[in-house]
Amino acid sequence: MNNYEKYFENNRQLWNKRTPLHRQSDFYNVPAFLESRTSLNKIELEELGDVSGKSLLHLQCHFGQDTLSWARLGAKATGIDLSDASIEEASRLNQQLGLDVTFVQSNVYDLKENLQGQFDVVFTSYGTIGWLPDLEKWAEIIHHFLKPGGTFYIVEFHPVAWMFDDDFQHIVYPYHNTFEPIVTETEQSYTDGSNHEKLKEYGWNHGLGEVISSLTTKGLRLEFLHEFPYSPYNIFRHMVQDENGYWRIRHLENKIPLLYSIKATKPQE
Ligand SMILES: C[S@@+](CC[C@H](N)C(=O)[O-])C[C@H]1O[C@@H](n2cnc3c(N)ncnc32)[C@H](O)[C@@H]1O
Repeated sequence: MNNYEKYFENNRQLWNKRTPLHRQSDFYNVPAFLESRTSLNKIELEELGDVSGKSLLHLQCHFGQDTLSWARLGAKATGIDLSDASIEEASRLNQQLGLDVTFVQSNVYDLKENLQGQFDVVFTSYGTIGWLPDLEKWAEIIHHFLKPGGTFYIVEFHPVAWMFDDDFQHIVYPYHNTFEPIVTETEQSYTDGSNHEKLKEYGWNHGLGEVISSLTTKGLRLEFLHEFPYSPYNIFRHMVQDENGYWRIRHLENKIPLLYSIKATKPQE
């Protein structure tokens, strides 16, 4: 991954700058979270199901709210993230809540050097694989850290949604991964009022075929692929909310997918 190192380093610094802004945002609502609020959504809660008593590895956990939420539901959870600021904040929240989640600062791709063991569940969600250039190597990490019989679950923004410009008027980015980074410059994060200096983002779009084939090629068995025309988060422009709290792009409503989820299992040896 040597030629990608400069992109990872840029993205690490980007997420370090965003972490304190996110920590204070209404979007992440840390006071309510500390009180009792779960940060998990109905989709992943229902689709992944009961995690009580299970070991769970959360890839790209940001500052740990979802990891800690799984722990509150009884999982023995471990969260990993590239951003040292995120991992520091996650560890602080863990202490404040008196939970015993393990947080590790690591690039996903370096995880074998930084973490031991195997897990019943590997989980990742909402805005993660777009930071990774190579899904075959990602799937190899997932396979390595799953116990035989273990479950991988992802819920992620749909690659079709990432093809559009910010106003969802024109297709400007490729559906397929070109392995060249998509470079954007922004002063804003997806959370309310989280403006920062102009920073570059290096990302990659991953079509569904690439995501699924990377997992099945490594030997995981696909249980389901679900696609949703809505998102639990108001993170794109021009979104409207329905009576269940889900958000859609106003002028595209049910015409394009905004999310997908995949469950896959590692066969017993
Ligand atoms: C959009 S956030 C994940 C959001 C998460 N669903 C949440 O709200 O808690 C993306 C996270 O991926 C992390 N990340 C980006 N590239 C990574 C990499 N190569 N390895 C590990 N983590 C990475 C970032 O530091 C950031 O915390």
